[in-house]
Amino acid sequence: MSATATASIVDPTHAQPFYTHDEYLAAVERALRAATAYYAGDVTIDDATYDALVARIAVTEDHHPAWQSTTSPTRVVAGPTGDVPHSEPMLSLDNVFAEDGLRGWASRLHKALGQRVAQYTIEPKIDGLAVAAHYRDGRLTLVATRGDGRTGEDVTAQARLVAGLPQQLAAPVSIEVRGEVFMTNADFTAANEIRIANGEPVFAHPRSAAAGTMRAINRGYDVPLSFLAYAAVGVPEQHAQSHSESIEYLAGLGVATTAQSSAGMVVGTSIDEVVDNVVALGARRGQLGFAVDGVVVKANYAADQQAAGSSSRAPRWSIAYKFPADTRTTTLLRIDVQVGRTGLITPVAVLEPVQVGGVIVASATLHNFADLLLRDVRVGDTVFVRRAGEVIPEITGAKLDERPETAQPFEPPAVCPRCQGEIDRTQKRWRCLRGRACGAAEALLYYASRDAMDIEGLGDKVVDSLLAAGLVTDPADLYGLDVATLSRLDRMGTLSATNLVANIEASKLKPLSRVLTGLGVRMTGRSLSRRIARHFGTMAAVQAATVAEWELVDGIGAGRAQVIVAELIELAPVIDRLAAHGVTMVEPGSPALEPADAEQGGAVLPLQRRDGTPLTVVVTGSIPGLSRTEGNEAVEVLGGKSSGSVSGKTDLVVVGDGAGSKADRATNLRLPVLPGERFAELLAAHRSGKHKQVRQILRAVLR
Ligand code: IVH
Repeated sequence: MSATATASIVDPTHAQPFYTHDEYLAAVERALRAATAYYAGDVTIDDATYDALVARIAVTEDHHPAWQSTTSPTRVVAGPTGDVPHSEPMLSLDNVFAEDGLRGWASRLHKALGQRVAQYTIEPKIDGLAVAAHYRDGRLTLVATRGDGRTGEDVTAQARLVAGLPQQLAAPVSIEVRGEVFMTNADFTAANEIRIANGEPVFAHPRSAAAGTMRAINRGYDVPLSFLAYAAVGVPEQHAQSHSESIEYLAGLGVATTAQSSAGMVVGTSIDEVVDNVVALGARRGQLGFAVDGVVVKANYAADQQAAGSSSRAPRWSIAYKFPADTRTTTLLRIDVQVGRTGLITPVAVLEPVQVGGVIVASATLHNFADLLLRDVRVGDTVFVRRAGEVIPEITGAKLDERPETAQPFEPPAVCPRCQGEIDRTQKRWRCLRGRACGAAEALLYYASRDAMDIEGLGDKVVDSLLAAGLVTDPADLYGLDVATLSRLDRMGTLSATNLVANIEASKLKPLSRVLTGLGVRMTGRSLSRRIARHFGTMAAVQAATVAEWELVDGIGAGRAQVIVAELIELAPVIDRLAAHGVTMVEPGSPALEPADAEQGGAVLPLQRRDGTPLTVVVTGSIPGLSRTEGNEAVEVLGGKSSGSVSGKTDLVVVGDGAGSKADRATNLRLPVLPGERFAELLAAHRSGKHKQVRQILRAVLR
């Protein structure tokens, strides 16, 4: 089984049981080995794969109770044995992965208690490693890892590095504080810089960085770590009536707690409130500044906790709602080099697609060449891909123990891959020495091309002389050109200059979809630009859309949405200048401009069904007065969806002059066919508001 065969989708909510007892036992063994390695900071299988494995073990045990092994991860706290015994077991938590699971847990608890849980707490599940910190008379005396829950390892020496775990408490009390040691995102970046400066391999991701640092002895350098408390043993009675009060007490002693973190702690009184807060925390996951792998929900009152009790592995009064894993492993297939509009040259990882944080990721940033070389990530490696919230996915490191023998170090480009010019390597982020000028010719020609703003007269030679004369660097500069300036260019007479200025001026009337196409937003093309323009209606709406709103556009997923949002931010100054020059920033006919009022039935467009869904229309051959792109645009203006291929799902085929196989196929499939001239008439009738004629034309062909 290759690492990637299982990497793409793992789903703990639909786990299937193992068929044989041997398969079950092998899975238990695999889970234990992985868990032991995990607590040593070594990820042998990623969290999502581990959770799915444990879910399969659990379902198998439901089917075959007799098979259950005493070492099953469903029964014991999986982790390495240490030599420091815990005062009382450090338990694990049961996991759920969806709302159903959370509600199921609450109703089981309700039954067990014989009454509703009076209060719940909702706090972040921190993705680090659990420790118990012992204070005597206010002084920190011992810090131990969780280990197998009964015994852990002594990490007192390393704990001096940990922010949030003071050496001295604010009061001389004796108490055992329990919580998670982890690395914030900012500290992770800093830690890797320190590692690199010390000639050591970088940490693959924040959790292994925290685990590795806690276990490292006699390192010649320190890297920052943080701590957040989520429990304690020995809190005085009067402060221990509820979890939230105990946590407040710890905070008062100077210990950092989950409640004080950017994620905070909420007290809720119903499971609906719990669900709402879990969702809300999930939405903020990328903005917390540290990795959370879920939400921990607890019955707040100590009385409820005691009544519910615990199994040998986990308390029944608490549950972990796990988010989709934000770090997965997959294979690095290729490293592409991209040159941005400003000349920025960046390495981009092309990956075997993998599900990260709930979406499929097929490419990720490798930041910069310096970073890539230091991380020594190679094509063929199994790499860690991390995606927190709406952040662009990144490769944080490679699994060196799985590196294929043939893997070669990456060779960074010697010259700019776009213009073959020199590269400025003085900064961490490399740039083409020509900066914005690199690629400007390409960008201008694309903007002026027929399918974009269709500016006749703006060809290769003119663009080259405009750039050479320093008159333009981006499309917005075109609108500032005048006849006098243009006539001074080589081989440009007054007549051509006049025509060019007129054509540039005329392009201001092109609809938003053409402007979007012309800007060359990465990961969009002509037809997607049209869909985007129709969906949002105005440039202001396009620019204001969030990643979640982008995902509502047909054909746009989270990955593409993120790139588009980033592109639009980069393009904002050019867009503003285009708008200031009077370039059209709306898409006529977009339903977003005139919301279809289905009840009144008035706003349904000719190529839409009554419910507003578009008819699928194929335009083939040439239509009088329209280019190919304009033909497809017309379909969309009329409310239809244009498609390039004829199939049983096609609702209408427009057949113009010179149409070939598509027209034949339409006849064979007995699809409704509209001649090209009739289509042109239909469009003209629609534009001039002759609704009766529109209906007549369509009624003749559509059944
Ligand atoms: S409560 C008896 N709260 O998650 C209750 N655990 O997967 C024990 N963890 O072993 C745990 N954040 O290391 C609790 N806010 C939180 C937590 C948390 C992270 C860890 C902890 C535990 C593991 C279970």
